Amino acid sequence: MSENRRFVLRRRPNGEPVPEDFELVTEPVPGIGEGQFLIRNHYASLDPAMRGWMDDAESYMPPIPLGDPVRASTIGVVAESKAEGFEPGQWVMGLNAIEDYSVGAVGGFTQPIDPQVVPSVTNYLSLFGAVGMTAYFGLFEVCKPREDGTVLVTGAAGAVGSIVGQLAKIRGCRAVGIAGDPEKCRRLTERYGFDAAIDYRGKDEEALTAAIAEAAPDGVDVIFENVGGVILDAGLNSLNMHARVGLCGLISEYNSTDRVGARNLWQLIVKRASITGLLVADYVARFPEGAEQMGKWASEGRIVIDEHIDEGIENAYGAFMRLFSGSNQGKMILKIA
Ligand SMILES: NC(=O)c1ccc[n+]([C@@H]2O[C@H](COP(=O)([O-])OP(=O)(O)OC[C@H]3O[C@@H](n4cnc5c(N)ncnc54)[C@H](OP(=O)(O)O)[C@@H]3O)[C@@H](O)[C@H]2O)c1
Repeated sequence: MSENRRFVLRRRPNGEPVPEDFELVTEPVPGIGEGQFLIRNHYASLDPAMRGWMDDAESYMPPIPLGDPVRASTIGVVAESKAEGFEPGQWVMGLNAIEDYSVGAVGGFTQPIDPQVVPSVTNYLSLFGAVGMTAYFGLFEVCKPREDGTVLVTGAAGAVGSIVGQLAKIRGCRAVGIAGDPEKCRRLTERYGFDAAIDYRGKDEEALTAAIAEAAPDGVDVIFENVGGVILDAGLNSLNMHARVGLCGLISEYNSTDRVGARNLWQLIVKRASITGLLVADYVARFPEGAEQMGKWASEGRIVIDEHIDEGIENAYGAFMRLFSGSNQGKMILKIA
């Protein structure tokens, strides 16, 4: 334990991130003070939101300072401790960074976790972490689907979207998913239980609108929106009266430099529909409730989660970029140790 490799943000990406925006640096392992503990990170969560944190724009989180390692949720093991309640060997989870070692503190974001969780401790970054909680609280608290309604999920084969579809089925809804290739679409219906799947690639707004009309013959009552742009436009064309759109993410726009987004918001007026932004951080106090329910459904086999784990901190850039090429086949995680 002498070196700390850190995946540092060197400059702010202009559009799509390129390797030169980052640098893998090696520094000494940091020391700890009273009330602090040293975390040996084992896994880092790679999330689309990290792209926003790389910009010089104030949002719900401050930008990552240039020269700092890229902020990420991690899970790891306490290596040293001068903090009550955190013992060496204990597994923890927190908002840290893509680096070998992070320093945690009592009263910070890092919390102990149970490594015996079935099937894998990485589930704290998927089903029981922000991803699972986004799906759970976003669908049930923001979108409020009714039992006989139709839920349209965009980015449906991804970490959040795949869970949303399964939750919509548990609620009794018709679930329609949009994803980026035939293999992902097959996974939507065969593995996650969606009633219908639409491959958006090669389709313009008109073709997508027609495909949604076919997959959702009674119209769309809820959109769980992860993508934005033309995909959101097609969904807006398909709304029923008083439909609800939960705006979870706009990944198709995160790397755009011109910020052109959906153009059909006027459909909300026509259909007296509502659109609500949702942020998982608002539900942190209720995570135990969400995690308990998700755990129950997972143990009953009613929810499955797929994780895509790439190995090696030196592969952080390529692993992160999978989120934008769509080559991740589940919740994107980087194995660091
Ligand atoms: N509001 C919140 O609190 C919150 C919390 C977590 C996540 N989110 C948002 O939820 C969304 C999904 O996040 P995730 O972690 O579950 O990631 P993910 O869906 O596992 O991975 C990203 C996926 O987005 C799709 N994608 C990428 N670029 C695209 C484009 N230009 N057009 C269409 N699809 C594109 C790709 O799937 P295809 O192969 O299907 O294209 C890719 O696999 C993101 O927008 C994220 O920001 C929001």
